[in-house]
Amino acid sequence: MKNSIHNICCIGAGYVGGPTMAVIADRCPHIEVNVVDINQDRINLWNSLDLNELPIFEPGLDKIIERRRNKNLFFSNDIKKQISRADMIFISVNTPTKTKGIGAGKASNLKWIEASARQVALYAKGHTIVVEKSTLPVRTAEVIKEILKSKQNSKEKHPKTSTFDVLSNPEFLSEGSAIYDLENPDRVLIGGENNSAIEKLAEIYRNWVSEEKLLQTNIWSSELAKLTANAFLAQRISSINSIGALCEATGADVREVSKAIGHDSRIGSKFLDAGPGFGGSCFKKDILNLVYLSEYFGLPEVAAFWNSVVNLNAWHQNRISKLITKNLFGTLSNKKIVVLGFAFKSNTNDTRESAAIQICKNLIEEGAALLIHDPKVSCDQIAIDLNLQPYSKKNKESNFSERNEEGNWDSIDSLENAFDGADAVLILTEWMEYKKINWRVTSNKMRKPAWLFDARSIIDPNQVLNTDINFWRIGDGVKL
Ligand code: UDX
Ligand code: ADP
Repeated sequence: MKNSIHNICCIGAGYVGGPTMAVIADRCPHIEVNVVDINQDRINLWNSLDLNELPIFEPGLDKIIERRRNKNLFFSNDIKKQISRADMIFISVNTPTKTKGIGAGKASNLKWIEASARQVALYAKGHTIVVEKSTLPVRTAEVIKEILKSKQNSKEKHPKTSTFDVLSNPEFLSEGSAIYDLENPDRVLIGGENNSAIEKLAEIYRNWVSEEKLLQTNIWSSELAKLTANAFLAQRISSINSIGALCEATGADVREVSKAIGHDSRIGSKFLDAGPGFGGSCFKKDILNLVYLSEYFGLPEVAAFWNSVVNLNAWHQNRISKLITKNLFGTLSNKKIVVLGFAFKSNTNDTRESAAIQICKNLIEEGAALLIHDPKVSCDQIAIDLNLQPYSKKNKESNFSERNEEGNWDSIDSLENAFDGADAVLILTEWMEYKKINWRVTSNKMRKPAWLFDARSIIDPNQVLNTDINFWRIGDGVKL
């Protein structure tokens, strides 16, 4: 095809930009893909010879990096140069919820998007297609267009001759299965006005995605569809978690309820697992964006409806820490709890909005000594999330297992000896290795009365039967 894309630049080497560009480079060996970031450390890790050091963990990602890096996939900090060389620029920078000013706590902070658009306006040459990839509030494309247009019309000494098209191409990948999702998308959404630009982006995807999965919409529908998809998914989780609480109260079993309703083809069986509450960088942020938009456009009932999904999630996380405290005789001081899993789901090292953060904070507040294990999350990351240094750093000489009145935590790399003297074990992330724990052996190591709280429902109750462990699992009305 005439004027095909030969050179792509992606601004932002994070959880979205990194894997997405890796798959594009893998499926389009004829295209040069440059991923740029302002964070030098992150780029160094992407370029690290040891593939275990890549800044994000995704199954299958290391193999692609090994295949394509420095062939047609490059990671650098040379933002200016790579923007100027690109025919197509993806913007995949972070868009967290604003913490202050108008819309604080709800609207997305677009300062990184704006900075990226300004960089594109400054350095792009010729005609460039700008693709918004990050999750964004509706009408962000307008902001990008405005910034690019103002540069085009600028009366500066060196007026730009560059021209732009802006497309919305939201990412639907799910962390932990990002590579699979990118290689086998349910759909690829391209929102835009200019057919030639849309066609050029579609041409890239056609290298591995079938035609019927390429959906074309107007730019605002594309932006809103992304927010809506995440809001619907998050709503399912709050719905099933609310029913889980009711199951616990009534003697029903949420797994049986999920199975029963999941057989209804109109409802479907996916995303009906009760858990400790949804986490991840997108769900809460996207719903809060919807809430903000609804309020802004004078639709308070719509805003309240979606806000309740977020409120239920926060209530649910607090509910879990409260019921643990209640079962351990109403106080956690002098009690050791082993926490299994800190990531917001398995197969990722991401902890953003993880339910573990609030639940662990609550337990520490109640005076518990937490021993936290996660196969992929570092001790430093946990310290950042809990806003508290681990016990071993604060008290170099002391022994963590020495019980304390004051809540504290530490992390462990191995589960060997972890359960010695523990009062309780709490499962927060569904890592495969936790399914293999021998509870009969573990039971002998724990202080009695011992508890196992399974907030992910990954333990077969039969494995705990005939041990001295009291077993609680999410949404289970029947106590063993
Ligand atoms: C989500 C969307 O799925 C994805 O399409 C979008 O691009 C980004 O946001 P992600 O945040 O990576 O992806 O994870 P997801 O698998 O959706 O899980 C989100 C949270 O819900 C996790 O904390 C997960 O543990 C929880 N969850 C999911 C449940 O508690 N129960 C379920 O049945 C499914
Ligand atoms: P996501 O999950 O949306 O990918 P991340 O926080 O993992 O979000 O990644 C976003 C990346 O974008 C970060 O590595 C950050 O340093 C980078 N970034 C933010 N602003 C800019 C910018 N103006 N230019 C280049 N990179 C940027």
